[in-house]
Amino acid sequence: MTEDALAGLLAGMTVREKLGQLTQLTPEYCGLSGTAELTGPAGAHPLPPSDRGIVGSILGCSGAEQVRAIQQEHLRRDRNHIPLLFMADVIHGYRTILPIPLALSCSFLPDAARRAARIAAVEGAAAGLHVTFSPMADLVRDPRWGRVMEASGEDPLLNSRMSAAAVEGYQQAEPGMPGVLASCVKHFAAYGAPEGGREYSNVELSSHAMEESYLPGYHAALEAGASMVMAAFNTVDHVPAAANVPLLRDLLRGKWGFSGVLISDYGAVDELISHTVADCGKTAARKALDAGVDIEMMSTHYLDQGEALLDEGALSPQALDEAVLRVLRLKNELGLFEDPFAGMKAASEAGQMDRHRQAALDIALRCPVLLKNENGALPVSSEETVGLTGPFALEKGVLGGWSAGQTEGVSLWEGLSSRLAPQRLIYGDCGSLGSLLEGADDIPPIREEHLRRQLASCQKVLVAVGENQNDTGEGASKTCLRLTPRQEALIHTLKAMDKTVIAIIFSGRPLELTPVVEDCDAILQAWFLGSESGNALGQILLGHAGPSGKLSMSFPRTVGQIPVYYSQLPTGRPPRPGGSTRYAARYLDCPSGPLFPFGWGLTYGACQLSDLKVEDEMIRVTLSNTGAYPARETVQLYIAQKAAAVARPEKLLKDFRQVEAAPGEKVLVEFPCTREMFSYPRLGRQVFEPGSFTVMAGLNSSCLLRCSLEMSPERFDALRKEAL
Ligand code: BGC
Repeated sequence: MTEDALAGLLAGMTVREKLGQLTQLTPEYCGLSGTAELTGPAGAHPLPPSDRGIVGSILGCSGAEQVRAIQQEHLRRDRNHIPLLFMADVIHGYRTILPIPLALSCSFLPDAARRAARIAAVEGAAAGLHVTFSPMADLVRDPRWGRVMEASGEDPLLNSRMSAAAVEGYQQAEPGMPGVLASCVKHFAAYGAPEGGREYSNVELSSHAMEESYLPGYHAALEAGASMVMAAFNTVDHVPAAANVPLLRDLLRGKWGFSGVLISDYGAVDELISHTVADCGKTAARKALDAGVDIEMMSTHYLDQGEALLDEGALSPQALDEAVLRVLRLKNELGLFEDPFAGMKAASEAGQMDRHRQAALDIALRCPVLLKNENGALPVSSEETVGLTGPFALEKGVLGGWSAGQTEGVSLWEGLSSRLAPQRLIYGDCGSLGSLLEGADDIPPIREEHLRRQLASCQKVLVAVGENQNDTGEGASKTCLRLTPRQEALIHTLKAMDKTVIAIIFSGRPLELTPVVEDCDAILQAWFLGSESGNALGQILLGHAGPSGKLSMSFPRTVGQIPVYYSQLPTGRPPRPGGSTRYAARYLDCPSGPLFPFGWGLTYGACQLSDLKVEDEMIRVTLSNTGAYPARETVQLYIAQKAAAVARPEKLLKDFRQVEAAPGEKVLVEFPCTREMFSYPRLGRQVFEPGSFTVMAGLNSSCLLRCSLEMSPERFDALRKEAL
């Protein structure tokens, strides 16, 4: 449809029809015969029969047959024949489930995020979806918050690169991989920083932290072309995002020039009342419309109050038309006016699902993080007899939250047993998943003697522990991040049996591993890896593939340290080794640093960096693998500024590069200097201050090679400008 035709369509619509385009509900609420999973309170009320056929988009409903039937029913009712948009949360896959986004970010491979999103888009579009509420570009630094599983971790650069790549994957079809989903980046802004890690809580951030750390991820997703933005539930500078004019109108629409569709989060327009910025639905609708929220999700104040707001002059006809036009344009861009069933045409070609599973395995292999590996624990050789125990040993529920209705992946047992001779893998029965994951006191103790007998022939024991996959995602905040007492006891018991203990941790967040770290010879952080979980872990544990993941989020020693992240600002009184310790920035009862820092992750190789230097505006460092195994390493480049107008972090990630090194191999790694490396955003400008900088390179954020660099204005001006 041409722009003129769209304008013509708009001109023929009644006010009520226009307001309908700005309303999103699940089918039940529109009198349509479909079902959708609700991810929030059912606050909306069903539309009266006279309004059936009026809404513009449907939430959370997919499946080719169902979508086709609803679309047909809707088109019969709507006199304007404007097709519905179907939107849902395709977060890490639709049929083929990929690793949770937090795991994916540990690959440090934007290309893996792009491929994962491409697979999700192909499968989601074939099931009738048009828009996915993904990526979640919320920066996260508090593992108590359950939604860290949907994020790309604590660092703005990594978050930006992963978010941008996901948008490209969703929106850009490739030869052999048709089908796109429009990407809705969320939750604008700073939803990832709720106070106390408590879901939906208030956010208190300095404007500098917002600008330098929290906003870049969303901006990168928009630069990559995201079609939609979702406003967050939380307050930003004490105003809920859905009514936040400086955030949505001035920054997003104004400064960033976003012209796509802006949607509220689930019921968030209605929640303006609970937030105490609106005393009734009419005020809530006015405030959200004023801020520029086009679509109201799962409440109906626009529909109920829009006409009154127009009559009173509180909503201008132009503002209403602009919002509706944005929605119509998106439908048009997705080709729905030509073919309301467009995406479904791409439906599964023979062999496609197999290819997706293979790709899901390749991606899952890049995500686990080897946190510790001592006493020759890993890899396990196929000549050894190995035990497998723990609540996740046989468990197929390893997909993590937001798994699009899928529930099972390949278990660790399946992944190992298909690769080992039967006599080489011994199962140690220690109780069901349910009992081990519960913290209750009345659970029977571990049958130690029984376990000892079962595992008698194995020196090495793999113990698969973690948190229930349902404890991750929305509404899954926790104050205790330890393994349950039964799981900790299991690890201690195995150590007391003198076994080589190899823990495999399934979780959607960094857990507090301090109580078990000493008793584990090796720890592999598995996260939730999706459909191919067991196969990927089996390959890594047996050394058929090497671990290469790096933590995208620091692991705290204890919940009491949170937030603990690598780029915290230095204080005036940093603790100094051997110095007077009481009056320093420290705890009396715990070291200040994390248990495992950002960027941490071992390989089976033994890599070191040397010869860090800056030559011809190129930062060069040499990586050598002196180990017996090949390694895939991620070289991380950090930069610090010595004297700036504002306090600067002691290190900030500015680039990273993944390289492979065979045993004995040396690889030269190069990073071109860019202006962004030597400047920072402040009050809407990129600030450069000439002076001394420290350039650091490392294989994690805590053990770094350093060199100094003087940056003059002339030298800075000559550098390349690069956004990411
Ligand atoms: C979540 C969003 C999600 C929406 C629709 C909300 O509760 O915060 O992330 O996209 O529901 O399912």
